[in-house]
Amino acid sequence: GVVASDAMATIQLTDQYVEIHDGEMVQLTNTDFAIETVSGSVINRAPYKATVDAADLEKGMYPYYMLKEIDEQPAVLRRIVQQYQNSAGELEIPNELKQAVQAVDRIHIVACGTSYHAGWLGKHFLEKMAGIPTEVHIASEFSYNPPLITGNPLFVFISQSGETADSRQVLVKIKEWGYPTLTITNVQGSTLSREADHTLLLHAGPEIAVASTKAYTAQISVLAILAATLSEENDFALIHELGIVANAMDSIIAEKEQIAELAEAYLTDKRSAFYIGRGLDYYVSMEAALKLKEISYVQTEGFAAGELKHGTIALIEEGTPVIALITQAENASHTRGNIEEVRSRGAHTCVCVMEGLQQESDQLVLPAVHPMLTPLLAVVPTQLLAYYATLQRGFDVDKPRNLAKSVTVE
Ligand code: G6P
Repeated sequence: GVVASDAMATIQLTDQYVEIHDGEMVQLTNTDFAIETVSGSVINRAPYKATVDAADLEKGMYPYYMLKEIDEQPAVLRRIVQQYQNSAGELEIPNELKQAVQAVDRIHIVACGTSYHAGWLGKHFLEKMAGIPTEVHIASEFSYNPPLITGNPLFVFISQSGETADSRQVLVKIKEWGYPTLTITNVQGSTLSREADHTLLLHAGPEIAVASTKAYTAQISVLAILAATLSEENDFALIHELGIVANAMDSIIAEKEQIAELAEAYLTDKRSAFYIGRGLDYYVSMEAALKLKEISYVQTEGFAAGELKHGTIALIEEGTPVIALITQAENASHTRGNIEEVRSRGAHTCVCVMEGLQQESDQLVLPAVHPMLTPLLAVVPTQLLAYYATLQRGFDVDKPRNLAKSVTVE
């Protein structure tokens, strides 16, 4: 027997797992195990089988899992659409969940790290498509600053692993308070999934690299699907638009060499960098910055483009890389203004722009997709930039220092 805090950690040894609940002890020998509660009652719990495709666990031709997982994103997106489509070809979530969400007047999203960043896009979709006011909370901060709860809330937990302790402690509290809960996770049978009232799966396949990539785009896609199925005016052809995004992702991935060159031109020997953007591009900037710093150790901040001048611009020096994301027509000219501000202070600026909004001097032009779905696409080059910057520095892309894939301590 082996004890693990995440089934994925031992999936190469076994597919048979037994859950251990809070307040239980396990006695483990070479060949057997016994579970008891702290008060001494014996627990007999049947094992469950974890179903993971062995091929998903191999790197195959890839030097690193992260690159494999970046490349898988278009396929994951297509799989998600398939999984959430009913026989009439429409997007659908389980009826029980739909009814539960229709009864709420506010949604609280709770998550950590990359999943927290996906949560901001969830807020955007749920408010814009479904008209439900939505707040986003960092799980580890929730206890100190719990939201003022009124009316009928729903708590949505976003967690790739479904095991994150910070998120789980909030879930335990919310259950005590008696509010309905939904977990959006990649791992069926994970703690957060078992303990919530409802689960939506990401269908991304196992994510092994510590830096989350395909789970992030899967989270955004599932959040968009959730919001769209709750939307009353069904005028946004999400299935069709997600298909366009998947194809656009393919074309960025096919030209990854260009991004390797940008990583070399902008990030070699740099100690710090910035991502800037407005609106949805700001949310992606936060995730892009996390990706770059967590694996390449370049100190990177994701900043609201208009806020940089209120203090942080003091950090811009000759040659500081500033990568700007521009995917929204309504704020493009303002972000352009912010690019000029930093360029005039010596920043080495790189503009990643949506087709239709580009200028001749821009470094990277992304194929046009629906304006609400640009984060799915804009994040891909930033993942690749992080990947190549890390390779060029000679660090282990998949296993960055000081980090773990599932964080099961608070
Ligand atoms: C860890 C990982 C991050 C991840 C975060 C939340 O810190 O290193 O990549 O975003 O946990 O994980 P979760 O499994 O809850 O999405």
